[in-house]
Amino acid sequence: MRLVSVDMITPDMTLAFPVYCKDALVINAGKDNMSRYIPNLINMGIQYVYVEDGLSEGIEIPDAITVKTRHNCKHVLRNTMQEYVESSDVKLYHLSDSIENVINEVLENKDIQVSLNDIGTLDEHTYLHSVNVSVYSLLIGRGLNYSRKKLEELAMGTMLHDIGKTMIEPSIQFKEGKLTNQEYEQIKKHAEIGYYILSKSSKLPEAAKKIALNHHERLDGSGYPKKKEGIELHEYDRIAAIADVYDALTSDRCYKKKWSAAEAVNFLIENSGTMFSPELVQVFIQQIAIFPNGSLVSLSDGSIGIIKDQNRHVPLRPIVRIIRDAEGMEITPYEVDLMKVLSLTITDSQLEIGNQTEKRVEVEYL
Ligand SMILES: [Fe+2]
Repeated sequence: MRLVSVDMITPDMTLAFPVYCKDALVINAGKDNMSRYIPNLINMGIQYVYVEDGLSEGIEIPDAITVKTRHNCKHVLRNTMQEYVESSDVKLYHLSDSIENVINEVLENKDIQVSLNDIGTLDEHTYLHSVNVSVYSLLIGRGLNYSRKKLEELAMGTMLHDIGKTMIEPSIQFKEGKLTNQEYEQIKKHAEIGYYILSKSSKLPEAAKKIALNHHERLDGSGYPKKKEGIELHEYDRIAAIADVYDALTSDRCYKKKWSAAEAVNFLIENSGTMFSPELVQVFIQQIAIFPNGSLVSLSDGSIGIIKDQNRHVPLRPIVRIIRDAEGMEITPYEVDLMKVLSLTITDSQLEIGNQTEKRVEVEYL
């Protein structure tokens, strides 16, 4: 299985994971002749899908939680937020049940380095993003050997970290291109609004509520809304900041294309000790696949391949299935274990997406 952009779909591909759009299953896994669905996918705003094809046969892509659990959680979160908008009351019981499933699955899969295999439309990205931030935060909490109670608090707080966005104009939130200073100031208000909303709920511990307020604060005081510094921030806040930025960078947004996992990890490392807690960044990197299975990479000899599998504890040297030679010609695929062929390195990942101009725009809005 591998991830391809919708415009790269060919008739020989079969859908590997189901595609959901606005809480509805629109294409089930296993559908062959995928090219007939291209117009539907484009209409729904879906830009990537996981497919099975000859080149990626036998490649598994481990995820921290199943597509079904992620979809259910997203659905419950959407209802929770919409109920708030209608009744000004945050009801948490359904979300608590959903979070139990998410935690169980994250704890079950603790021996694999994961990528989050989520595909969604841009207009539902608030919910998808919230679930992802929660899962990434749980991976860090798991790496820190958190108790079940702490995992539950962290999961609930991160799941609701952007609830303040329910009060921000959609025309600003989903604006394509650069925001004006005034618009950006409006967006920033979601942190304090979110905390205000959650402060009315007695069911949530204070540290979990504060994640909504503090997830854009940075270790060095460069964040918002209060420019708090490291010592003033709870560990949950510092975990949420890493998870939030990583997911923002690796997801498509209306104003930018997604970065590869390797590029986003680089960003976290470059900003360790300034924006982010170095020890938490290290824990996070140990839990995820820097070059996820199924992603396209180029090697130092000019050949191109698909990541086949991970070498545990050596995330930069996975096993690669070579599909094109240095001249770009298609070849009979063969596999190279970068732990055994040390002369080769990965020089680029997710080759068809991302560029420097888009990256500059994105980093301004973290
Ligand atoms: Fe936020």
